[in-house]
Parts: sequence; C-alpha cells; structure tokens
Amino acid sequence: MSSLTALIERLPKAELHLHIEGSFEPELMFAIAERNQIEIPFKTVDDIRKAYEFENLQDFLDIYYVGMNVLQTEQDFFDLTHAYLTRAHADNVRHVEIFFDPQGHTDRGVAFSTAIDGITRALKQGKAEWGISHELIMCFLRHLSEEAAFETLEMAKPHLDKICGVGLDSSENGFPPSKFERVFAASRDLGLKLVAHAGEEGAPEYVYEALDLLKVDRIDHGNRALEDDALVKRLVDEQMTLTVCPLSNLKLGGVSSLTDHPLKRMLGLGLRAMVNSDDPAYFGGYVNQNYIETATAVGLTSVEIIQLAKNSFLGSFLPEADIARHIADIDAVSETV
Ligand code: HPA
Ligand code: ZN
Repeated sequence: MSSLTALIERLPKAELHLHIEGSFEPELMFAIAERNQIEIPFKTVDDIRKAYEFENLQDFLDIYYVGMNVLQTEQDFFDLTHAYLTRAHADNVRHVEIFFDPQGHTDRGVAFSTAIDGITRALKQGKAEWGISHELIMCFLRHLSEEAAFETLEMAKPHLDKICGVGLDSSENGFPPSKFERVFAASRDLGLKLVAHAGEEGAPEYVYEALDLLKVDRIDHGNRALEDDALVKRLVDEQMTLTVCPLSNLKLGGVSSLTDHPLKRMLGLGLRAMVNSDDPAYFGGYVNQNYIETATAVGLTSVEIIQLAKNSFLGSFLPEADIARHIADIDAVSETV
C-alpha cells in the first residue's frame, strides 16, 4: 500500500455530498426488489453494473430514478442507509451530511414519513454503533415545479427536528437556481441551512444565482466556477465550501480523464474544496476511493490531502467545538506522516 493511501485511510473525514439513493448497491437492490416482489429490468447484478455507463448527468438520473422505485418500506430506507454507513465507517468517516430526494418517493406513493423515518433510524444507529455524527438534507428536484417544491417543504414541516437543511439536485441545465428563490427563502425562514448543486454541468451564472438568490451556505460541485476568475475570487474570499465529487465528474463526463480533474487547481487557488462520493454505487467508489484515485491522478501531496480532510469538517454544519476536535484528530494523524 502506498503511503498516501495509508494516510487517506487513517485520516478522519466528513462526507457532505452523498445522495443516499445513490448508495443503493445492486446486491441490495435485488434483495429489496425480491422482498417487495417488484420486477426490475435486470436479471443479474452484472447486468445492472453494465447498465451504469453514462454520457452525462441525465443518462445517470434516468437510471437512478428507476433504481429507487424498489424502495417501499421504512425498513428498506433503513437498510439502504445502514449499508452506506457501514461503508463510510470502513473509510474512517466520522461525520455525514447526507441528501435524500423526498419527491423521488412521494411521487410514487411512498409517504414522506416512511422515507425519513427509515433513514433517521439508521443514522441514529450509526451514531450508537460507530459514533458517526450526522445531519440530513432534503433536496428539491429542480426539474419539477416550484409549487411541487413548496408542497415538499410543507410535508417536511412535521419532521423539522430530523432535517438540518435543504438542497437542490437533479437535471441542472435549463433549471436555474432562480426558479427556487422563494422556496429557499421560506426554508431559510424555518431555520434550515441551504445548499445547492451548481456548476456541475451548468454555467458559472448558476453558481452566482445559488450565492445571490438562494443565499446558500455551500455549493455542491461548483467545478465550472473555475471558468470565471471573479467568481473564484469571491468563493475564496467568502471561504465558500465546494463539495467536489471526482469519480462522479469522471463518470458523468465533466472531465474526460481523472488526470484533468481540477481538484488540485482548486486547492492551489485557495478554494475550500473537499472530497465526496456523490452516488458511490453508480460511480465506482466510496469516499476513500475518490481520494486515492484523484490523489494518484493529479499528484496530490500529503499536505493537500490533509487540507482536504480538514476542509471536510470546516465546511460541515457541525458546531465549532466539534470541528475543532476533529481537526485536532487530523493534526494527530498528520504529525505521524
Ligand atoms: N447531480 C445532480 N443530481 C443528482 C446527482 C448529481 O450528481 N445525484 C443524485 N441526484
Ligand atoms: Zn450530487
């Protein structure tokens, strides 16, 4: 094992950009489909994996929404989330802020409470079993209407004790952040944190809109901000966290090779970038795999890898004292390098 791999494995990390439905491994999908007597358009786990060839974000989303159809019961959402936390624990992840897509479930007749109760039960168990702290972020699907987002926010109101923030995901181009300005303002009034996918496929203008109109606390992805020097300067000045997902960018065509990935450039510019797995069951790796493959491809130094791990906590919604404790743990590991 290389020394960088060993360092990555030993570093405490937070994951801030993870769609729980995107951690649905084919084996579990088959097991739950059978349990719920639901037909899926694949015969074997291998068939499923072969279908995971994507040209772009929409290609992926088309199959991602089919996959989540088998999730029906509270136990299904528990099993999904518990499986993710098991993997996260193996990667020495100490804190997670995960996304879920309520509209992907309520639109097919699964109650909001079924999804959130199963996810939350597993998050609590992850805390009890492994000490992994957690927050849950509910995303609005941006290809659906503003009205549908407001209906989802209404459904969330009895569950606000379980939700720390709202996000914005799904197809980006043609669905600008501006469409959701009012529902983000209403979410902010409820005391919720705000994040949004922007600049994954969309132009830098979408990142500006996320900052200026949605008033987000973090940008999810943000890669295309690099096309605009003034925007980069602003993101650096504001120390805005970018939740970067290298293997996702590779699988969805954001970069043609991991050697072209902008992560090292982002750090060099002073951006607060950190590393995540996004939809690991679909993109070929959990968080350590993202660190290891990218570090190898772009030549990250141990100092840069340590900075990424620190950024993962600095960008989190944890209280300052908890962030300081995790950073001290990272310093303890880095002293041995
Ligand atoms: N981008 C946008 N929407 C998503 C993604 C993503 O990578 N994963 C799940 N929903
Ligand atoms: Zn994402």
